[in-house]
Amino acid sequence: MIKVGINGYGTIGKRVADAVSLQDDMEVAGVTKTKPDFEAENAIKKGYRLYSAISERLEVFEEKGLKVEGTLGELLERCDVVVDCSPGGYGAKNKEIYERYGVKAVFQGGEKKNIAPVSFVASCNYEKAVGADFIRVVSCNTTGMSRLIRIVTSLVDIGRVRATVVRRAVDPKDDRKGPINAITPNPVSLPSHHGVDVQSVMPDVDIVTTAVKVPTTLMHLHSMNFDLKGDMREQDLIEVLRNDARMMLIHSEDGFTSTARIIEYAREVRDRGDIWENCVWEDSISVYGGELYLFQAIHQEAIVVPENVDAIRALMGFEDGDASIEKTNRTLGL
Ligand SMILES: NC(=O)c1ccc[n+]([C@@H]2O[C@H](COP(=O)([O-])OP(=O)(O)OC[C@H]3O[C@@H](n4cnc5c(N)ncnc54)[C@H](OP(=O)(O)O)[C@@H]3O)[C@@H](O)[C@H]2O)c1
Repeated sequence: MIKVGINGYGTIGKRVADAVSLQDDMEVAGVTKTKPDFEAENAIKKGYRLYSAISERLEVFEEKGLKVEGTLGELLERCDVVVDCSPGGYGAKNKEIYERYGVKAVFQGGEKKNIAPVSFVASCNYEKAVGADFIRVVSCNTTGMSRLIRIVTSLVDIGRVRATVVRRAVDPKDDRKGPINAITPNPVSLPSHHGVDVQSVMPDVDIVTTAVKVPTTLMHLHSMNFDLKGDMREQDLIEVLRNDARMMLIHSEDGFTSTARIIEYAREVRDRGDIWENCVWEDSISVYGGELYLFQAIHQEAIVVPENVDAIRALMGFEDGDASIEKTNRTLGL
């Protein structure tokens, strides 16, 4: 049994904890928080051992009457691997602690590429991560674009990929930064970092991206365009997407006319309304003059969760990436 610590029980951490609990080869050793708020209380109610991410804040939990098992260091002593889900940029400092305790770690896309030797998307480069000490699971947008590019390249050679990332301004729970009343080129100077980040996973892909932030919290949307170097029929791509568990084909005729409708669907069929798949509009898939165009939507809070589970197996030396992906998909119900 792989013992997994989750350092940071926020948007990503709580979802990774629940996904880890579903696996028969791993268990949650504990989760950390800095604040004794409702999320900390819920973690205990779910049966997770709660630890203080910052030693000096241990008594804040005790004052609130929340049972804490100790500090991050004590959690690390009980772990084979830690999934760092702390706020973006905190991972680099935390890495020094993990190294001190000799614990392998999975970092998230908010960290710089050089935090780990492998920037990871399971279907693209699982084998590169096997046995590593540190892995960075890339951001939600990068995960979504990388998965899709890998699928298109399994059908046809491609030239340049161009994508516009229409970004949700903030997550639904973020009452400090949003919502915004604006369409914000983000960044104004081109290109955006997303394409560069895709190249951290697939260095040979010729990709340029731009990005804008819009006043929504639900999902991101990608307008994708590929130069095709050979023939590919729209139907061929549709078939492959239909058979890939981490892809969800949606159609406007079924009521999927916007990200709001996708989230409404997910609220009915999924815990938390989470969508771990890329949502690709089947009716947007178009090949014109040697170029492929399509729209896909990405649920930023959920898409990286299966990748984190696979990253844990890869770190622990499990070599069969396809078997890991299949197991993760099955346990999540994909
Ligand atoms: N949210 C997304 O859409 C998304 C998507 C893909 C990747 N990511 C990446 O995932 C990572 C986590 O993002 P998030 O959205 O889950 O953040 P979040 O919701 O703000 O959660 C961060 C968690 O870390 C805890 N924390 C705060 N300071 C800490 C510290 N010094 N050490 C350890 N934990 C600490 C927080 O605890 P308290 O609340 O108790 O302070 C909170 O539980 C980032 O790298 C982000 O870029 C996020």
